[in-house]
Amino acid sequence: MIRLALHGGAAVRKVVSFPGWPVFGLEERTRLLEVFDSGQWWYGEKVRDFEEKYAAFQDARYGVTCANGTVALETALLACGIGAGDEVIVPPYTFMATASAVLKVNAIPVFADIELDTCNLDPIDVERKITNKTKAILPVHLGGLPVDMDAFKILARRHKLVLIEDACHSWGSKWKGKGTGAIGDCGVFSFQMS
Ligand SMILES: Cc1ncc(COP(=O)(O)O)c(C=O)c1O
Repeated sequence: MIRLALHGGAAVRKVVSFPGWPVFGLEERTRLLEVFDSGQWWYGEKVRDFEEKYAAFQDARYGVTCANGTVALETALLACGIGAGDEVIVPPYTFMATASAVLKVNAIPVFADIELDTCNLDPIDVERKITNKTKAILPVHLGGLPVDMDAFKILARRHKLVLIEDACHSWGSKWKGKGTGAIGDCGVFSFQMS
């Protein structure tokens, strides 16, 4: 693990302020107006185009747009057959939607601990939390830092669990050369600021 600047390592970021959010310019304005003027405000050509390009950008075979990351999480859980009484292992250090989406589909979020050095879900503690009700593992690539996908894939295979990636923070992140969100059974993204 690289030594953090906080602990005397070299600073990666030299300027103090971070860019504002959302980031947009003339291209976004133009595209938005094109949709507005087209009168086709429902599922149309631009959405389909976006789904294809975003899926390719993230190395996924398919992409489906949703209203936001929370709805995408709920949709992914339902699509993977998670329902009443099933347990889904999630990290305690994340945005609330990772756990609330599990509740929304009537399943039970079970917290496993995070690793001290990455703050990501700890596969060792996840294995301790597996019961005969566990149906899925839902790790979060926190702040764009991928979780140990090799370890989670092995765990999922060994215990016959679904592996859903909460990739809401990790557009463009790669794990061993492959885009996050496209490594497990499915992955979920968000366009909120994190
Ligand atoms: C880790 C994580 N998962 C899911 C979500 C939900 O995304 P959205 O705000 O687009 O519903 C967020 C949003 O902050 C998030 O940080």
